[in-house]
Amino acid sequence: MDQYRVFGNPIKQSRSPFIHQFFAKETEQKINYESELVAIDSFDEKIIKFMGEQGKGANITVPFKEQALALCDQLSERARLAGAVNTLSFIDGVILGDNTDGLGLVQDLQRNNVHLKNSRILLLGAGGAAKGVILPLLDQHPQMIVIANRTVSKAESICKQFNLHENKSKLRAYGFDDVTDQNFDIIINATSASLNGKIPPISGQLVGADVVCYDMVYGKELTPFLKWAKNEGADHIIDGLGMLVGQAAESFAIWRGIKPEVESVITSLRKSLAAE
Ligand code: ATR
Repeated sequence: MDQYRVFGNPIKQSRSPFIHQFFAKETEQKINYESELVAIDSFDEKIIKFMGEQGKGANITVPFKEQALALCDQLSERARLAGAVNTLSFIDGVILGDNTDGLGLVQDLQRNNVHLKNSRILLLGAGGAAKGVILPLLDQHPQMIVIANRTVSKAESICKQFNLHENKSKLRAYGFDDVTDQNFDIIINATSASLNGKIPPISGQLVGADVVCYDMVYGKELTPFLKWAKNEGADHIIDGLGMLVGQAAESFAIWRGIKPEVESVITSLRKSLAAE
């Protein structure tokens, strides 16, 4: 049976084994998918060992996505521009790296009937999570993507990295205070603020009933950002559970050549979250 694994630290909380086993059943693929905790200083050796054991592919999660990128023999453009790898494929001793996080976000926005073409997107944050979704968002031909961050220089440096991209003029970098009176169709929270129960300090005026508010994180309760957005009048708020499943579906498709259906696994995860 083909072996797959997710590597991270911590890893106990990972829902990837559940999701991939679910996909395997649904698509009648015979695979085994497990999680493995990796000590902070032994990432490379664990991956090489897994390859030696005939591992076919791996997902990489916090905090190893940058190290995974450095280990790859070949990278997709998505992974290169994201500066991070979440999907490894091992083919004849060669390590291929990809990043499916942004595809997962785009897929989930589409699943929620959010139109990206010609849309005006406000992306909050300029860390790894934000960087990973920019190319897949640009590929959907939005009118513009404003990257707003507490540390403006980080947003500016992301824009610089897209210097050679044909759609570079669609990217702008701002501080949170500078985005007060613009109209956006979609606001995406890619900051890690909510992990500390905080929200990025943007003006409530940016939110209206018709502004889609998306948080890349999810939980049993509404995230602080989505709670705030709802209070500010947003009708359409979406958390990151669908993005998590979407990125897994894209990894599965890279490995198995078949794209699983995501709805049932999202429903199942939502139920188990509610019961926690
Ligand atoms: P990740 O991989 O989750 O993106 P990261 O690379 O550490 O993690 O980036 C965290 C992002 O959340 C950054 O954009 C950070 O802003 P700074 O670049 O100014 O540090 C943002 N962030 C974290 N806590 C925040 C808060 N309380 N308010 C606003 N932004 C916050």
